[in-house]
Amino acid sequence: MTGVKELAYVVYEVSDLADWEHFGCTLLGMQLGERLDGDVAGFTLRTDEKAHRWIITEGPADDLVRSGYEVESADALDALIASLTAAGVEVTEGDAALVAARKVDRLVLVADPMGNQIELVTGLADAETPFASDVLLGDFVTGSGGAGHQVPLSKGVSREEYLAFYQDLLGFKISDIIIEELAPGIVADLIFLHCNPRHHSVALGDMPHPKKTHHFMVEVTDIRDVGLAYDRCMDAKQPFEMTLGMHPNDHMFSFYVRTPSGFSVEYGWGGLLIDDATWEVQTLDRLHWWGHRPPEVVHELLGQAPFTNMIPEGANH
Ligand SMILES: [Fe+2]
Repeated sequence: MTGVKELAYVVYEVSDLADWEHFGCTLLGMQLGERLDGDVAGFTLRTDEKAHRWIITEGPADDLVRSGYEVESADALDALIASLTAAGVEVTEGDAALVAARKVDRLVLVADPMGNQIELVTGLADAETPFASDVLLGDFVTGSGGAGHQVPLSKGVSREEYLAFYQDLLGFKISDIIIEELAPGIVADLIFLHCNPRHHSVALGDMPHPKKTHHFMVEVTDIRDVGLAYDRCMDAKQPFEMTLGMHPNDHMFSFYVRTPSGFSVEYGWGGLLIDDATWEVQTLDRLHWWGHRPPEVVHELLGQAPFTNMIPEGANH
């Protein structure tokens, strides 16, 4: 295999480190890895035995700035570099300081057709201590499925062009496609890609969105942790993007909450795994099987029928 094997980590640049630490650790249940002591302030977040899965750095972007995709071996990375170079993609070797900061054996930098900075790495190190969350009953689902999935926006780049990179060069396989008319003239058209049994590690599409990324999905092993995180986020008045619901393609039971930087986290349980031997690519016509309602819709449905209206006038209680 010469393609990538998993989404290993992401790097976000955020304007409010304290908010992000509260969001990641207290609300989502991640573990603080370490505080960064280089030129840029920040910290890392863990979701498993790995040294880090999210690297949070201070800065004005409030967006995704790097994505780390792990490759199986040094030989596989050499082969991937050869393919990328032959296709005209500029590949830059990461320097020793960056390799050390990312805690990997080797790292090369490339950009996808949208201009997203991608680090192709081998050997993401384990942390020195076991994973421990202050709030989770279970664990995050990582392992061979990597850190989770993410949805970078295609920003007008054609599907042919970004698939030439993600499918033909990085080795992702198509899981399925969802095309849904959200409103007259507004169509969401997303393609879901996998590189391991997780239904998708990356989905790409052209939705109106100000950020480079729409969301990052973390999955938990215990369905109760979805409900508990839902309540923690609601009690903290963290803005929601969507209520609990389920996707028809990966069957993820999840909700979407906005990060302090404005893009979202999908917090899910029960995602489908793909067996390439039997999987058939389909095109579906809806993004959400049930639920996943925006807060304004919930308010419209439930916010205008106060309980007191149900009590007959003159009733004696
Ligand atoms: Fe998702």
